[in-house]
This record gives sequence, structure tokens and C-alpha cells, in this order.
Amino acid sequence: AERTFVAVKPDALQRRLLGDIVRRFERKGFRLVAMKLVQASEDLLSEHYFALRDRPFYNHLVKYMSSGPVVAMVWQGLDVVKTARAMIGETNPADSRPGTIRGDFCIEVGKNVIHGSDSIESARREISLWFREDELICWEDHAEHWIHE
Ligand code: GTP
Ligand code: MG
Repeated sequence: AERTFVAVKPDALQRRLLGDIVRRFERKGFRLVAMKLVQASEDLLSEHYFALRDRPFYNHLVKYMSSGPVVAMVWQGLDVVKTARAMIGETNPADSRPGTIRGDFCIEVGKNVIHGSDSIESARREISLWFREDELICWEDHAEHWIHE
């Protein structure tokens, strides 16, 4: 089954947006398989954002992401990687349509409230970076048959 990694960023926690964000993934029909509150270290973030290490905003980004707790989650379901990105919106909230998480909850790229893996490969890498295997909970989803064929 396909899984993606989602992180609710420190600005969203400060602004009490966690419940609203989790609610969207739940109502969509995805299955939560892991969730924890994390104070991310610079080591963890430097691995997470390895691909962005040469960007001018990199230091600012690591500071932002370590400025408070984040909620790390793994969601499972049909096409969840692509669909979660669609629900999240564009990197820059100004380009995000209303109805998306960034389109509804924020206005600036440097405070864009949520992260979602950009591919199945990134999702695998990020899930194993943020979670131990025994933190991923396998549970029987009794609603699954009502959500897809
Ligand atoms: P994530 O889901 O968080 O990975 O966002 P993304 O995939 O839409 O964007 P990307 O991976 O390219 O960038 C990761 C994060 O870096 C973004 O979500 C922003 O928080 C931050 N970021 C990207 N571009 C900029 C920028 O131009 N300025 C600033 N300040 N931050 C940026
Ligand atoms: Mg990204």
C-alpha cells in the first residue's frame, strides 16, 4: 500500500491548526499509520532537506523547522503521495488555490504550515528517517471498502 510522510510545521502548531489539518486527511479517507510530536534536531533536518542544502534559504529553513515542535505523520491510501500534495497546494502559498491547506491557512513560502513528500521514493526515505519500523502501526481499516473498490 502506498504511504506518504507529512509534517505539520512549527507555525501551524503555534497557530493551533493541527486539528484542522489532520481532519482533512482523515475525512479524505486516508489511513493514519503513524503520528508523533517531535522537536526536530538540526541533524535530522539536514538529512531531511539534504537536496536543498545549497539553496540561499536553507539556514533560514532549518531554523524555522527547529523553532518549535512539528507533528510527523504517515498516511496510507490509494495514490496518497500525489493526492496529499494536491491537498497541500503549491510551495508558495500565494500560488495555492483556496481549498488547499496552504491556500487556506497561510500567505508566505517561509511559513507554509505543512510538508508532504514529493514522490514515492522521497516518501520511503522520509518515513524511514523520521520513524522507526515499530512506530508504523498496521491496523485493519473497516471503512476501506466504503472508500475504494
Ligand atoms: P515541502 O513539502 O515542505 O518539502 O515543500 P515543497 O516540496 O512544496 O517545497 P521544497 O521541497 O522545494 O522546499 C521545502 C521547503 O523549503 C518549503 O516548503 C518552504 O518551507 C521552504 N522554501 C522553499 N523555497 C523557499 C524560498 O524561496 N524561501 C524560503 N524562505 N523558504 C523556501
Ligand atoms: Mg519538498
